[in-house]
Amino acid sequence: MLFSPIKIGSVSLTNRIVVSPMCQYSADDGSMNNWHLQHAMQMAMSGAGMFVFEATAVERRGRITHHCAGLYSNQNENAMKHVLDAARSVATNDLKFAIQLSHAGRKGSHHVPWRGGQALLNSEDAWTTVAPSALPFTQGSHLPEALDKDEMQKIIQNFIDATKRAIRLGFSAIELHGAHGYLIHEFISPVSNQRKDEYGGSLTNRMKFPLEIFTNVRKIIPSDVALGIRLTGTDWLENGLSIEDSKKVAQSFEKHGADYLCISSGGITAGLNIPVAPNYQVHLATAIKSVVSIPIRTVGLITTAEQANNIIVEERADIVALARAFLANPRWGWDASKALQHPIKVPQQYERAYSSPV
Ligand SMILES: Cc1cc2nc3c(=O)[nH]c(=O)nc-3n(C[C@H](O)[C@H](O)[C@H](O)COP(=O)(O)O)c2cc1C
Repeated sequence: MLFSPIKIGSVSLTNRIVVSPMCQYSADDGSMNNWHLQHAMQMAMSGAGMFVFEATAVERRGRITHHCAGLYSNQNENAMKHVLDAARSVATNDLKFAIQLSHAGRKGSHHVPWRGGQALLNSEDAWTTVAPSALPFTQGSHLPEALDKDEMQKIIQNFIDATKRAIRLGFSAIELHGAHGYLIHEFISPVSNQRKDEYGGSLTNRMKFPLEIFTNVRKIIPSDVALGIRLTGTDWLENGLSIEDSKKVAQSFEKHGADYLCISSGGITAGLNIPVAPNYQVHLATAIKSVVSIPIRTVGLITTAEQANNIIVEERADIVALARAFLANPRWGWDASKALQHPIKVPQQYERAYSSPV
């Protein structure tokens, strides 16, 4: 079942394995470089059905760090084209390429994780972050500026412009980042959205701006490209989004034309108590799957072929994404195909390593 095909919108995936989007924190003013080249080329031959390029900022201040990828300039687009063309040239198994478009909101202007991940100082070229409300992510975080309506219109335009670039690059799927405490999630969650205007208050109001972004992007997506969104299943907080709220959010995005959803969780504030364990987010995907009819992707501590396959066989989700397992083993798909006895195509040059032990 893991190796059975599935369609997201009009796009056919040869199997249900996805390389989850993973920031590499290695770009130069948003432009990908040799690091991304090797990363994408490895993932292109991983045996997955789809590889999602990392969270890519739609404007410079929408990056998390100085080294996040972006798609806000011609340089960014040209650099990504170089990476994508190279990855395409070695891709096997009819792998589809997707991109995650993102705005970090109040979680922008931080150090890369391996430098501690704390907020940048002014002397480190910090920038002013934006959010639905002027509430910091946590103690020691930047105080964001609450977005006014003019600025919100500009952000919608940034998403449209980045989407146009992604379409020009030929991605098969475009995914908006609506989870992990970044701008779209910040609007949906009552933890970070305490606005008094029509964009705050009820869940319907809190979804208004995310849906405006989504519908504007939807309008320009060609028929052969899929549009999805990564959402949170729960905020893991009493005063945050619950799974019942997330069901309504998922239904709204389906109604507005989402071709698929990925259900993740966490990240709206620091210090959350998340029961991290294998499959810890699968029940969230299953709950959402019960109220929508588009394909649902799950993610989170899925590491073995049997575990991934069971999720599909038991119809707990339609697609399985893995992140760290692919970093540890970029040939994860090959091993899974052997474990589940479903042969896949690997590059001819490497075939002898796949078909027989050394
Ligand atoms: C290095 C790294 C970078 C990540 N960057 C992103 C990202 O760009 N966008 C996103 O939605 N999630 C990101 N994530 C979260 C993963 O996509 C995934 O949801 C999470 O790691 C749980 O899956 P796993 O247990 O298979 O690693 C990142 C995770 C890692 C480890």
